Amino acid sequence: MSYKVGVIRGDGIGPEIVAEALKVLDKVAEKYNEKFDYTDILLGGASIDATGKPLTEEALETAKSCDAVLMGSIGGNTTTSPWYKLPANLRPEAGLLAIRKGLGLFANMRPAYLYEELKDACPLREDIIGDGFDLVVMRELTGGLYFGERKTFEEDGVTKAVDTLTYSEEEIRRIAVRGFDIAMKRRKKVTSVDKANVLDSSRLWRKVVNEVAQDYPEVELEHMLVDNCAMQLVRDPKQFDVILTENMFGDILSDEASMVTGSIGMLSSASLKEGSFGLYEPSHGSAPDIAGQNIANPIATILSASMLLRYSFNMDEAADAVDHAVKQVLKDGYRTVDIMSEGMTKVGCKEMGTLIAERI
Ligand code: NAD
Ligand code: IPM
Ligand code: MN
Repeated sequence: MSYKVGVIRGDGIGPEIVAEALKVLDKVAEKYNEKFDYTDILLGGASIDATGKPLTEEALETAKSCDAVLMGSIGGNTTTSPWYKLPANLRPEAGLLAIRKGLGLFANMRPAYLYEELKDACPLREDIIGDGFDLVVMRELTGGLYFGERKTFEEDGVTKAVDTLTYSEEEIRRIAVRGFDIAMKRRKKVTSVDKANVLDSSRLWRKVVNEVAQDYPEVELEHMLVDNCAMQLVRDPKQFDVILTENMFGDILSDEASMVTGSIGMLSSASLKEGSFGLYEPSHGSAPDIAGQNIANPIATILSASMLLRYSFNMDEAADAVDHAVKQVLKDGYRTVDIMSEGMTKVGCKEMGTLIAERI
């Protein structure tokens, strides 16, 4: 079958890591007799440089016409890049938020799994790691602080800034349903994370999550305050199966969850809605500090491509083959610098992509 895949190469390490994920998809196409038609889509800094806007109407329409979109990461160094001299609505991140909203991608799934082979790269003590851990952060992606009204204004001669956090019952319900659905396919535990001891939006979150839980009697539900969750993730990550949370908390907790797996360079993500369409991207950023040096870890992007095969194209066998190839390459001792440990073979971004593609 032929699929139309949108490709956002993005900024910084984006083009390098996307090239490796495409290498892997090409191998999948060859092996499983599928056809992927790639269409480049501009987003973020690359789009600003070419068009003056971080996302054009045309780029959004192209993304909508695809069966799925694979993305690197966008953005630059937020203190030195000229992109950050532009008004906030014309900066790279505004494009990312606009494409998420424009495509209706309200459910962001970020799995964090500790590979047996990467135990040495995990910063936690051995007794905490135990047999490893396997959790998924289900992050609401099109609401909350990211999409509330914001402004900077003068009052009584003082400059003030305000950001607003709004959630509707419906927005909470649809992400909660996705979280419980995923828990049913896993270990059947949902930890809903909020700040209900302070925020009204969190009290509504808790109420709606409790209602949704009624339809999933097999799933164990617990509520946890976000500050405690941040602590529990390093104290005992094994306790988590599905962490269900709002946009900003999910952003922060997923970076934390990624690091306990060894490196942010390992954490994939899928941004989903109803139906099969999705946008797949690593959870990390454009890493401007290491761009162009062929040292970035492409595994998060390659695992995102695997999620694309699984969730958008229903190609479980091919997705399993990609996941297995990643595991095998780690077993064979190859490491990018971010996950390097004693006795292993250090490889660059391109070599890592090739080694994984060869194992499919
Ligand atoms: P970052 O994730 O880009 O980098 C944080 C640290 O992790 C850096 O030291 C970097 O070198 C390292 N790192 C990240 N990915 C890596 C990889 N694949 N392999 C090895 N090391 C890796 O976060 P930041 O520095 O805070 O942000 C840089 C830019 O990226 C900003 O403009 C930010 O807005 C943007 N950003 C974009 C996305 C996205 O496109 N989805 C996500 C996060 C941040
Ligand atoms: C992410 C990123 C984005 C977010 C930024 C770049 C807007 O950090 O995808 O995690 O905060 O959602
Ligand atoms: Mn983030």
